[in-house]
Amino acid sequence: MTQAYRFSVAPMLDYTDRHFRVLMRQISRASLLYTEMVVAQAIHHANQDPDAGSRAARLERLIGFDPIEKPLALQLGGDDPALLAEAAGLAAERGFDEINLNVGCPSEKVRQGRFGACLMADPQRVAACVQAMGHASGLPITVKHRIGIDDLDSYEALLRFVDTVTAGGACRLAVHARKAWLNGLDPKQNRTIPPLRYDLVHQLKRDRPALTIELNGGLGTLEECLVQLQRVDGVMVGRAVYEHPLRWSSVDAAIHERPSQEPLKASTVVRGLLPHAERWQQSGGRLWAIARHLVHLVEGVPGARHWRAQLSREAGARDAGPEVLERAALQLEARGL
Ligand SMILES: Cc1cc2nc3c(=O)[nH]c(=O)nc-3n(C[C@H](O)[C@H](O)[C@H](O)COP(=O)(O)O)c2cc1C
Repeated sequence: MTQAYRFSVAPMLDYTDRHFRVLMRQISRASLLYTEMVVAQAIHHANQDPDAGSRAARLERLIGFDPIEKPLALQLGGDDPALLAEAAGLAAERGFDEINLNVGCPSEKVRQGRFGACLMADPQRVAACVQAMGHASGLPITVKHRIGIDDLDSYEALLRFVDTVTAGGACRLAVHARKAWLNGLDPKQNRTIPPLRYDLVHQLKRDRPALTIELNGGLGTLEECLVQLQRVDGVMVGRAVYEHPLRWSSVDAAIHERPSQEPLKASTVVRGLLPHAERWQQSGGRLWAIARHLVHLVEGVPGARHWRAQLSREAGARDAGPEVLERAALQLEARGL
C-alpha cells in the first residue's frame, strides 16, 4: 500500500459501516478507510459458531467488506492478545490491508471491558496485543490513541506509551489530539471539551522523527489538513467527512497526488452507489442502510431539504430498491448537481 494514510477517514461506530465506505470511495479512491470498531470478543464468539452457515453469516456481518473499499483498515477493540490475534488472523484471510487497535474510546461500556482509552495506562499490554496481532496476521498493526487520560496526561507519559507500543511492533500511530476524561465526561463530551493540543502531536513527531504519525481531531477542511501535513505524516478526519462528504472531493488530487478530476457532482456519487445497492438488495439488505448516509451529500443549495426528505421517505419503505437512488440521481442531474 502506498501512503494511503496521508488522509484517512476516522473509524466511527454506526457511521463508517460498509455502505458509508463505498460512498466514500466515490469521493476518494486513494484515502485509507477504517471500519467501525469491532470488538475482538464478538469476532471470537461468531467464529465459535458450530453451524458453518451461521458462522459465515455472522463473520460477514462483523468483518465483511467489498474489495472496492480497499485500502481498508479493520479497527479492533479488545485487551486480550489471544482474542485480538484470532481476529487479526481472520482479518488477514479476508484481505484487510491493516489492523488498528482502539486505545482512544472513553465510553463506559468499553472501559468496563478494560479496553479503549483506559489501555493508555497499560502500554505493556497494548504492546503485547500489537505483537500478537502482528504475528497472527502478518499485517501492519497501528494504534489509535489519545494524548492522555485523566491525570495520566504528561508528555512524558505519552512518550512512554508511544515508545512501548512501537517497540511491540506498532508501525503507525493515529493520535487524537485531546486527552480523555474517563470519569465525568461521556464520549461525546470527550470529543469536544478537552482542548485540542496539536502542539503535543507536533512535538511527538519532532522527538520521534522515525515514527509515522497521523494527527486526528477537529480538522474541518482540506486546507487545515494541508497545514498539518507539513508537520505530521498523515491526517485523520471523522465528523467533518461524515457531515460534509463532498467537501473532500479534491483530496486525491491535493493529498494523494492523483491527477485532478472534473468537480465531483452529488449525482455522480449517488450513481456510483447503484451497483452496490443492487448487490445489497440481492443479499436481502434494506436500501435505507445505504440511503441514510446520503443525507449530508447535498447541502447549501435551495431544495436540498426537499431532496433529502423525499429520499428518506422513499428509501425508508420496506421494499425500496436501487430505483429510489436512480430517481434521486435524476433529480440532482436535472438541477446540474
Ligand atoms: C459517532 C462517532 C463514533 C466514533 N466511533 C469511534 C470508533 O469506533 N473507534 C474510534 O477509534 N473512534 C471513534 N470515534 C472517534 C473518531 O474516530 C475521532 O477520533 C473523533 O471523532 C475526532 O476526530 P474528528 O474531530 O475529525 O471527528 C467516533 C466518533 C464519532 C463522532
